[in-house]
Parts: sequence; C-alpha cells; structure tokens
Amino acid sequence: MKATLTIAFSSLIFGSLLVGCNQAPEKTKEIVVMENGNRKVFGTIGQDTVYAYTLQNGKGMKAVVSNYGGTLLELWTPDRSGVTGDVVLGYGALEGYLQKTNPYFGALVGRYANRIANAKFSIDGKQYTLAPNDHGNTLHGGLKGFDKVIWVVDQVNDSSLALSYTSPDGEEGFPGSVTSKVVYTVTVEDGLKIDYTAQSDKKTPINLTNHAYFNLSGGKDSTILQEELTLHASKYTPVNAGLIPTGQLAPVENTPMDFLKGKKVGKDIDQVKGGYDHNFVIDKTDSGMALAASVYDEGSGRFMEVWTTQPGIQFYTGNFLDGSLTGRDGKRIPQHGALCLETQHFPDSPNQPSFPTSILEPGQTYHQTTIYRFSTKK
Ligand code: GLA
Repeated sequence: MKATLTIAFSSLIFGSLLVGCNQAPEKTKEIVVMENGNRKVFGTIGQDTVYAYTLQNGKGMKAVVSNYGGTLLELWTPDRSGVTGDVVLGYGALEGYLQKTNPYFGALVGRYANRIANAKFSIDGKQYTLAPNDHGNTLHGGLKGFDKVIWVVDQVNDSSLALSYTSPDGEEGFPGSVTSKVVYTVTVEDGLKIDYTAQSDKKTPINLTNHAYFNLSGGKDSTILQEELTLHASKYTPVNAGLIPTGQLAPVENTPMDFLKGKKVGKDIDQVKGGYDHNFVIDKTDSGMALAASVYDEGSGRFMEVWTTQPGIQFYTGNFLDGSLTGRDGKRIPQHGALCLETQHFPDSPNQPSFPTSILEPGQTYHQTTIYRFSTKK
C-alpha cells in the first residue's frame, strides 16, 4: 500500500498522472489494463497492485518498466527503416515474472548480482551465511533478491522513473539495512540510462545490475548467434565448474573469449563449454564511464553500445534457456534466444581479495551508471 500511496504523491508533484489510485486492488487476469497517462496496472500480488510505466524520449524509443522487481518489461527501438521493435525478452503478464523458473528477465538484481561462493563471506573476521540457491552458492541476492520485491515509486515523468527499495538488516543473510535507489531514463540520445545508488548502515557487499535479455532483431531471429559482439575487455575471470571465478585474470587474445575486434556471438561458442557465461574485465583505468561492449544485428541494422562505470560485465548467452518458457509473442524461447550484458563487480568479489572491492561502508554511497545506447547502421 505504501508504494501505491507514494505513486499518488508522485503523480501530484509531476502532474503526469491522475490521482485516485489507492482504491482496493482489483484482482484481475487482464495482462495490462490502460490506466492513467503512462501508468498501467500490471497485476496484483496479494494486496498490492503493481504497475507498468511507459517511458519515452519522443523520438521513437520507448521502455516499459514495472515496480515489481524494477523489471524492464519492454524496450522498443527503431530498426534501420525506422520501424520499432521490442529488443528484450519478457512475458505478456505478471504471472510470467512470478514463475519460479523466470531467469531474471529484465530484473533489477541485488543485493549482490551473480555468485557468492558457498553462500558465505566474512567482513572484519565475522562470517555471514546466505541462502544457497545455486548449487550451494548464492546467485543474484539469494532466494528473494531485489528482483522479487515491489519497489517504491519515488518519481515518474514521461521519460524517467525513480524507484527505491530498503532491504532490512539480515535480509537473505546480508548485514546492514541497505537503501537502494534506481532511476531509469530514456534519454534524448536514444539511451536507456540506469543509475543506481545505495547506502548501508553496516559494511555489506553490494552489486546492483539489470538482467535484460537482448535480442536486437526485435523478434525476427530466434537466437542471437548471428549478432556481432565487441567486448572492450582484454581479460576475463575464468571460472570453475560451479561458475565461481578461480581468482585469475586471463588474457582473451586468440581464445574463444576474444571479442576485442568484434565477431559473431556464434563463431566460437561451441568451444566454450555450456556457452558464454563469464565476467569480462573492462579495459579502463578509472571509475568513470567507459564503452564496455557493442552489439550489431545486421538484419535489422540495430546497433547497441553499453557504457558503464563498472569494472566488469557478465556476458551470458542464455545457455539455460531451453524452450520451456514462452515469451510475450507467444513463441517458445530457445537456448541462445537472447544475450545479457550485465554490468557489475566481479562475481564472488566478497571472497576474492584480489578483485576490486564490492564492500559498501556506512557513510559511503555506492553509485553505478550504465547506459544501453541505440542507433542503426545502413
Ligand atoms: C547470470 C548468471 C547465469 C545465470 C543467469 C540467470 O547471467 O551468470 O549463470 O544464472 O544469470 O539464469
């Protein structure tokens, strides 16, 4: 209910929505019901109504984001002929996102994206035990990560949505009460900008990201194997069988991990056991914005750049997609149906002293910005 009231308050301030949204939540089976301005009811969870917000830049680019899990539901960008298509995977209804098997489609991931080995870490000699949810390790924040909570809507206007979530001390085993704020903006430069901040009252690991599954063909190609990827990363973090980094930083040059000059995603994928699911170390010297990756889909002409302040990027080729999930277009989603480029701290950093620290201290502010920027090529 708090979220609902805050939405009403925001709508007064921004004048872009009508008030009157704190009526009893309606149990509805409809997928998306048109409501006020850029807000639609997306569904209900218990007593809570969750919403889908449409953000646009007036130039043809449009994002739809829900306060359930801060999830990016849709992302529409023009192809080289100016025809817009949805370039991210998702479901047609909230129920899809609530399935146990939902592989984090479009979600905001926290408090710690990717894996923490053996569901344990220590800070200042004190050991913390987390919920193991991935072969004994903790993946994407645990059993109920930030992707599975209803975020508070702090502000909304035509192009931007500000969300916040306060994770209590001890949630999923993590120390400290953490307040995270995430702002989604569709920019005039055709970018989807995601700005994340967080503060904690105790030392705690923090690693926030978005888990969008991109397929730049906009529904035309069933897989991303033909898309051309460039990763501005001379090194990556090799992993063991449980996908936990060994601690080494290995050079990519002349290996299947080498995307420095750009190549089709499918070119060497058969030489990588299970497909790509690795953290790449972005070539950068400071914590400012840098170009980490770009993807080109020749069929549609769409070109996407990924800019970030983060040290790493998880390149994942949807290896665990197996045809059992049905997407928004009603089609089954095959293996490699999409790719993820999750900007992040390196996986398992809380247990890897040689990696850049992911520990947030009281009084500090965690801040990361990532922009997925779109254009087309002839
Ligand atoms: C990340 C992980 C993958 C997988 C997906 C979600 O990309 O690295 O191993 O867990 O999330 O399915």
